[in-house]
Amino acid sequence: MKTIIEPFRIKSVEPIRMTTREEREDLIKAANYNLFDLRSEDVIIDFLTDSGTSAMSASQWAGVMQGDESYAGSPSYHRFEAAVKDLMPFEHVIPTHQGRAAERILMEVVASPGDVIPSNTHFDTTRANVESTGAEAVDLVIEAGRDPQRIHPFKGNIDTEKLETLLSERGDDVPLVMLTVTNNSGGGQPVSMSNIKAAKACCEAHNTPLYLDACRFAENAYFIKKREDGYADVPIPDIVREMFSYADGMTMSAKKDALVNIGGWLAMNDDTWAMHARNQLILTEGFPTYGGLAGRDLEAIALGLKEIVDEDYLEYRIASTRYLGTALTEMGVPIVRPVGGHAVYVDARALLPHIPPLEYPGQSLAVALYLTGGIRGCEIGSVMFGRQSDGGETPAAMELVRLAIPRRVYTQSHVDYVIEVFEDVYERRDELRGYTITEEPPQLRHFTCHFEPLG
Ligand code: F0G
Repeated sequence: MKTIIEPFRIKSVEPIRMTTREEREDLIKAANYNLFDLRSEDVIIDFLTDSGTSAMSASQWAGVMQGDESYAGSPSYHRFEAAVKDLMPFEHVIPTHQGRAAERILMEVVASPGDVIPSNTHFDTTRANVESTGAEAVDLVIEAGRDPQRIHPFKGNIDTEKLETLLSERGDDVPLVMLTVTNNSGGGQPVSMSNIKAAKACCEAHNTPLYLDACRFAENAYFIKKREDGYADVPIPDIVREMFSYADGMTMSAKKDALVNIGGWLAMNDDTWAMHARNQLILTEGFPTYGGLAGRDLEAIALGLKEIVDEDYLEYRIASTRYLGTALTEMGVPIVRPVGGHAVYVDARALLPHIPPLEYPGQSLAVALYLTGGIRGCEIGSVMFGRQSDGGETPAAMELVRLAIPRRVYTQSHVDYVIEVFEDVYERRDELRGYTITEEPPQLRHFTCHFEPLG
C-alpha cells in the first residue's frame, strides 16, 4: 500500500481549543507579536518544538507506575541503564534532567579557556555551554549543509578535511570532537555512517575522543538505512549500535528520540572523566542513579528507547515530515531541502524577498501562520542570531521558520490543515510586512523581545 498510516491507535486525547482570526489578532497583539509569549491553549497546531512534546505510549504510562523512587540504587535506574547500553554500549551512563545538563557537565569536565571544540554544527545550548567555559565552539559542517536549496543525502556531515586541519594545527587544544545527529541547527539533516567513521579515524590519529550529540539518533539511523549503500537490510538497532561503536561518549536529550517529556543523559568510556562528571552531577542534578529525574521518568525512557527504533514508527515519522515538506515545495514555498527528520524549515528570505533581513521576514511569516491558522512555528533567523555582543545588528546567515513536528501527536488531517493555511499565506505573501523590535533583553532576545508590525 502506498498510504503510510500512523502505526498506532489513539487511547487518550487532548482537546484543541479552536480560535477565530479575530481572537488571534488580539492574542498575538497582547503577546507583543512574540509567539513564545502565547499561552499554548491559544495555539491550534503547535510546531514550536519536537522537544518534550511527544505522546507517550500506553506501555510507557504503565511503566510510570512501575517507577521506583528510591534515592539510591533504584531498579528503575538499572532498567534505564540496560536500555541505554543495549543500543549505546558505553561504560558509564549518567542520567540528567535534560540534554543541556549533560552538555554543561561534560564541558565543565573537559573544556577550559583557550580550548576549541569542533562539531558539524553545535546546537545553541551546546555552543553556550562550550563558550561558558571560555572555550571556543567551531562549526565545520560540509559546504552543502550551508545551502538551503542544495540537495545532498547527508547534509549534516562534518567536513573531515577541515577537521583534520584543525586537529593538526591545534590538536592539543581540542579535548573532544562533537557530532550532532541529526544536525538540528543545519535543518535536521543526517550524518552518514561513513562520515562518522571518517571523523573517528581523524580523531583517533590525533588521540582525541569523539562524542555524539545524539538527540535524534534513531531518525539519523533511519536515513542511513534509506540513503547509504549497504544498510538497506540492516535492522535499525544494529545501525544505531554501529553509529555509537565509533564514539567515545554521548550527550542526549531524551525529550527527542527517547519519546519522553523530560530527561537526558551523559555516557562515556573514560573512567576519570566519568568520576568528575558524577561529582558535578551530585552538585546540581542529583545522586548518580537518578540525576535530575524521578524513577518513573527513567522507566519511561527505558521503554521509549525500545519504541523509537521500531522501523514502522520511523517510516511513519520520516514520511510525515516529508509529507508536509513535499506539499510546501509543490506549492512553491521554498524550504530547506531535502526535508530533514524532525522539522520542515521554511526559507522566509526566499519567500518574502521584499522584507529586508533586519525587518525579520521569518518573524513576519511566523506571525502570519499564527493569525491565519493558529499555527506556532519558530523563527530561526535575524531575531534569534542578529544581535551582536556590541549591541549592533547583523543579518543572520539564513532567515528560517522551523515547523518542528512533535512525535506521535498530530495526524495527517492536522498536517493537511497546516498545508491549507500555507496556501492562504502564500497567496497573500506580497502583502506581508516586516517587524521592528521595540524592547529586548541583552541576551537570547528571541524568547522575550517585543515586536511591532511595520507599515
Ligand atoms: N542538542 C540538540 C541537537 C538539540 O536539538 C537540543 C534541544 C539540545 C541539544 C538540548 O537538549 O533541550 O533537552 O536541553 N533542542 C530543542 C529544540 C530545544 O527545540 O530543538 P535539551
